Amino acid sequence: MDENKRGSFGSNIGFLLSAIGSAVGLGNIWGFPYKMGKSGGFTFLIIYLILAIFVGFAIMLSELAMGRKTGLGPVNAYKTLSKKFKWVGWLAIIAPFLIMTFYSVLGGYCIYYIVINIVGLFKGVPGAESFDALLTNPGMSILVTLGFMIICYLINLNGVGGGIEKFNKIGMPALFVMLVIVIIRAWTLPHAAEGLKFMFVPGYAVKGGFIDKAPGIMSVLATAGGQMFFSLSLAMGAMITYGSYLGKNENLPKNSVIIVISDTLVAIMAGLAVIPAAVANGIAKGMAVSEIKLGGPSLLFATLQDVFHGMGTIGGIFGFIFYALVLIAAISSAISLIEAVAVTFIDRASARGEEPSRPRTITLVCIVIFLLSCFVASDGLGSRPFAPWQFFGIGSEAAPWNDCWLDFMDTWSEGVAMPLGALLMSVMIGWEIKPKSLYDEIDNGYNGKIHGFYSFCIKYVCPIAMVFILLVQLSSFFGFGWFE
Ligand code: PFF
Repeated sequence: MDENKRGSFGSNIGFLLSAIGSAVGLGNIWGFPYKMGKSGGFTFLIIYLILAIFVGFAIMLSELAMGRKTGLGPVNAYKTLSKKFKWVGWLAIIAPFLIMTFYSVLGGYCIYYIVINIVGLFKGVPGAESFDALLTNPGMSILVTLGFMIICYLINLNGVGGGIEKFNKIGMPALFVMLVIVIIRAWTLPHAAEGLKFMFVPGYAVKGGFIDKAPGIMSVLATAGGQMFFSLSLAMGAMITYGSYLGKNENLPKNSVIIVISDTLVAIMAGLAVIPAAVANGIAKGMAVSEIKLGGPSLLFATLQDVFHGMGTIGGIFGFIFYALVLIAAISSAISLIEAVAVTFIDRASARGEEPSRPRTITLVCIVIFLLSCFVASDGLGSRPFAPWQFFGIGSEAAPWNDCWLDFMDTWSEGVAMPLGALLMSVMIGWEIKPKSLYDEIDNGYNGKIHGFYSFCIKYVCPIAMVFILLVQLSSFFGFGWFE
């Protein structure tokens, strides 16, 4: 199959915006700000950045180099690079596949909120009531999930340059502008400063009454590690896939640094918009700060919709802008997840000497994801009795893994496949194929000195950090309580 049929990015900026699009997603908007506030504000940020520099950067660079060196998606890239680790690539496509089963539902919720903010412009749309109504309406949840999947399907169908790159080139700058508008609005609300203190001042979450007890250092490290991986789209095949579409002369270390910095910046910016608005609105309504829901899906869809509702008619317009920006963030991440799964089958077909069909592969992948996402959409995030253990007849003790379909899918992807995949990748590169096997790829388009730092991180820091992050993820998803 010739190069153009497989697809490639038209320019480095197109690649960068697409990789940043993959990284910037729901994880930045609802995950980062709340976790940062709860886990010690600036202290969390510093720990996050240290992990991003020593672990995130090395894994990001490895993935881009593996993809570009082999010119293949995750499954086939591992197969080409190592005999012993050839099966690890499958972990890297199970993870994005399972993530998509709930990401699509949450993306669908964004479509729903865009629509109800327009339709209800003059009536106003209350937050908690509208979210309850959505969660208890499986038909509507499935419909909006389908809508989200169709949008992503059409983008992926158009290929790397014509679909993914084009969408991100327009979507990412638009997202940035919308985010700035929402930040300005949030900061002009009375009591917004209280939210900023929650996010940035070390220890303020407890001092200000948001939470009872500060988490221990182990728990902060764990939260930061898990968040960093998810947020940077690591160990899920996405960056290997995008790397395989990148031109040979582009600078991989520089690109990796730009992606890590941009993703962190957007996460902080999202926090500057979301947390002050939610806190200001809660205080204005006479709530104690501990009662304001600042985490999870209800932050995005109940708490924030309530903020827009409180602004009157103008609130509907801000609601529209906000959910449109979250939708763009969700789409730009989802298309990288779909691509990571689909590319495996496209590459396999051409390895067998068959003519790969992008339309057929993308259609099949999207249909299977959609069918599985119907489970997640139907149980209303656990508000309807539809939980996984009831199907498998496993005990019903409450731990995140069996809380609801979303958490079930998240457990196996973010909790198991992702940290295990990253651990095995760093062992493979550090100790089996050796970092120097990627040096020629890393040096293509780059002439600085990075070998020593990269080799130290991938051989020593990453495996140790990944064992820890794996244990922490297992403990938190399965409720073992090892790090509390
Ligand atoms: N990075 C995305 C987020 O922060 O929401 C989620 C994600 C996208 C994870 C793509 C993994 C991936 F491959």
